Amino acid sequence: MCGIVGYIGHRDAYPIIVKGLKRLEYRGYDSAGVALFNDSNIVVKTKGKVLDLEQLTAMHSTKGKFLGMGHTRWATHGIPSDLNSHPHLSNSGKIAIVHNGIIENYASLKKMLSDNGFHFKSDTDTEVLVNLIEFIKINQKVKIGKAIQIALSQVVGAYAIAVVDVDRSDEIVVAKLGSPLAIGIGKDEYFIASDASPFIEYTKRTIYLDDNEMAVISRRKGFKMYSITSDELITPTIQDIKLSLETIEKGGYDYFMLKEIHEQPRAITDTFRGRLLVDEQQINISGIEHNREIFENATRITIVACGTSWHAGLVAEYLFEDAARIPAEVEYASEFRYRNPVINKGDIVIAISQSGETADTLAAIKLAKENGAFVFGICNVVGSSIARASDAGAYTHAGPEIGVASTKAFTTQLTVIIMMGLRLGQLKGTVGKADFERVAKQLAALPKLIEDVLAYDKQIEKIAREYKDASNFLYLGRGYNFPAALEGALKLKEISYIHAEGYPAAEMKHGPIALIDENMPVVVIATNKGHYEKIVSNVQEIKSRNANIISIVTKGDESVKLLSDHVVEIPEVTEALVPILASIPLQLLSYHIAIMRGCDVDQPRNLAKSVTVE
Ligand code: AGP
Repeated sequence: MCGIVGYIGHRDAYPIIVKGLKRLEYRGYDSAGVALFNDSNIVVKTKGKVLDLEQLTAMHSTKGKFLGMGHTRWATHGIPSDLNSHPHLSNSGKIAIVHNGIIENYASLKKMLSDNGFHFKSDTDTEVLVNLIEFIKINQKVKIGKAIQIALSQVVGAYAIAVVDVDRSDEIVVAKLGSPLAIGIGKDEYFIASDASPFIEYTKRTIYLDDNEMAVISRRKGFKMYSITSDELITPTIQDIKLSLETIEKGGYDYFMLKEIHEQPRAITDTFRGRLLVDEQQINISGIEHNREIFENATRITIVACGTSWHAGLVAEYLFEDAARIPAEVEYASEFRYRNPVINKGDIVIAISQSGETADTLAAIKLAKENGAFVFGICNVVGSSIARASDAGAYTHAGPEIGVASTKAFTTQLTVIIMMGLRLGQLKGTVGKADFERVAKQLAALPKLIEDVLAYDKQIEKIAREYKDASNFLYLGRGYNFPAALEGALKLKEISYIHAEGYPAAEMKHGPIALIDENMPVVVIATNKGHYEKIVSNVQEIKSRNANIISIVTKGDESVKLLSDHVVEIPEVTEALVPILASIPLQLLSYHIAIMRGCDVDQPRNLAKSVTVE
């Protein structure tokens, strides 16, 4: 949540910062702000998006300011408002800060500062931190870097911060714990950002700060990195950025979400490239091969994740039990981390996360590691915190996902999970040659099959038009299609704000059926594998209550078609692969409904792409 950008060098800072903020808006977009420094300093901040900030800043001259920082916010403490927007200034107006994270003990610090004569304009925890820094700087007569270091030793929480002291306005100090922070290194210039996207056109060289690291970056003296806790100087590891500009732009699509839906054939190909070797009957995931013994001896797998990634985890739970006969359980990371779970030494914990930054998932794997578990991460963002905190893992290689609603992240997570299921089945001796070949061939064919399903876009748009004004939707599926139903419902609610629930189809009779009437569209994933007759009966029960039925069926289906008002056909594949294909029409349905309702599908209200607070 929240994106921060900074620049120090020989160019005008403002255009770099504002462009960077637009790229980071996926992290939060309820307010935005910028601070620019030189002989005279400018601080502009506002409730609203970066576009609103741009309009306001147009009244100022931003030329000749070679140091600056900006922020795009997802509110934690205090409502979205001009006053609560970042940057925040200390009481003297001399220290400015942008912050991504949460200071949990802000209330006690605020009281201490108030007792010492400090006053506060905003409701934020960040304003407390900047004043704590000022308090320490004045009272302990230390330089800004030292004051920040001492202040950070007193805070409990998570942060990525950038701080400028106007008395030293050729210097910017950054620090990190829990929230991500990258430094881009150019020629006599430095960039700071929550991820590398704001500076990829200027430099390919970056440093990802680790927790408890800080850096003092100076225009004249270069930069120094050291440990917040021990004061020791750190020699940074400089990495090459692989990201390209075109992957973070809309490429002719109206919305990132639509682009990302259409990217799925390519993304899935990238996920299995070099790993799925159909003719050789091999799945080559290095994170498994390097730890083969651990997987061979696995007696239990726990999967931790949130949101869409949790839905992918539910498919993994079914598949690992089904194909490899390993007991598996998916847990909400936020529950797992606080409920004193039983984790034994040698247990396998799989963390699934697109961003690799989700605070609850990160905390869950830390807990798992403390208890001796082996942690395997399935992440999209390369070098993310969860990827780094895992013992081994597999990247999904979906490419940057910018739309807040996960689309290609989900289907590529499922692709990794299916490959893992096949490989674990081989290791456990539960997947034979014939089954391996059948599923592997279908997996390899998925990109083409997805193209075929994407071609139904116009048909789905028509269905969307009919139901765009509904207030509630129900999504039903059995077996592997139950996670797909949950994901379909989540997609609809998060971008169109229509209330939607996903249920195992048979559970409907235990309560939700009471909601069904002619005003309730019901989406049923009723493909022909696995309990087909049972789901036909469920569809009949819904029909008898006059609901409008939109069904996703296997090509050539007759029975469900007869009972449905609308049908979308998907190609026949083995049960475990159906959630990938069924997700495509569900993504398109929610996309079109949201657009027809005038919603911003890329930046839905109250949400952020990367949930770095618990
Ligand atoms: C998906 O559409 C959501 N925006 C959300 O549920 C997301 O999947 C969740 O916050 C987990 O994020 P992660 O995969 O980056 O950990």
